[in-house]
Amino acid sequence: MQTVQRGFDLRSTIAAWRDSGKSVGFVPTMGNLHAGHLSLVELAQRRADHVVASIFVNPLQFCPGEDFDRYPRTIAEDSAKLRAAGVDLLFAPDVAEIYPADPATLSFVEVPGLSDDLCGRSRPGHFRGVTTVVCKLLNLVQPAFAVFGEKDYQQLMIVRRMVGDLNMPVTVIAGPTLRDPNGLALSSRNSYLNVAERQRAAMFYRNLEAAAGAIENGEQAFTRVEQETAERLTQAGFRVDYISVRRSSDLAVPSSQDRQLIILGAVWLGNTRLIDNRKIDLS
Ligand code: PAJ
Repeated sequence: MQTVQRGFDLRSTIAAWRDSGKSVGFVPTMGNLHAGHLSLVELAQRRADHVVASIFVNPLQFCPGEDFDRYPRTIAEDSAKLRAAGVDLLFAPDVAEIYPADPATLSFVEVPGLSDDLCGRSRPGHFRGVTTVVCKLLNLVQPAFAVFGEKDYQQLMIVRRMVGDLNMPVTVIAGPTLRDPNGLALSSRNSYLNVAERQRAAMFYRNLEAAAGAIENGEQAFTRVEQETAERLTQAGFRVDYISVRRSSDLAVPSSQDRQLIILGAVWLGNTRLIDNRKIDLS
């Protein structure tokens, strides 16, 4: 595996592959890699001749007061994992490489509406930071496709919207969420949880599953399901940001005609914010 820090070096390596007719798949990450990230790499490997991964803790997507400074940075371990997984090229730029100028004067990409909903309500500017960096990374790598996890379902939908709205020549592929045996979705932020919190965290997904099951069994009062799920989670020691049932194709508030839904949630456990979701199939 080759590792590059500079966009220039990234481009020349990838250009050589492309000139020899090879396809490129891309997996962007912020590092502190776990099996969920590596499952996206595997997915990419099944479809492309060469896989590029990136590790960049993007300051633009952290709001003031969030965990940018303490976000886990484990580049040596991550690099070993990617090498063992058979990744061809790791792009690990520093902040100055991606944002050479004052971020206040930077052009940005924003998907309106969806970026202010759900997680965007309590994380203003977060999704603008995500779409801006993903756009920059896609322009640098120019892959045939890029893989994003369903764990961050709103992010996946927003990236799809950006790519569609701006006619970006890349296919967005979704990878399923990898979980601990107790149901907790793997996440870099799980490393903030102490032992007791990590056990309790499993109840988050269990409650989303129960809510999804109730709707699949005919419950139609979505608002009540949302409220009851939030109450149960509060009683279990979580601080609930939101629990919301949406249409899975575009995260619109569902009508009674919609058959493919999703319940999404964000909760705090101590100082750690967790997000998760569970699809609901009514067909
Ligand atoms: P990060 O949180 O490192 O996640 C990188 C990719 O891994 C995302 O597409 C995310 O959805 C996926 N992922 C995380 N946990 C997963 C799990 N348990 N199972 C499957 N996939 C999982 O998301 C970001 O970084 C950033 O916002 C980024 C897109 C890189 C832009 O900075």
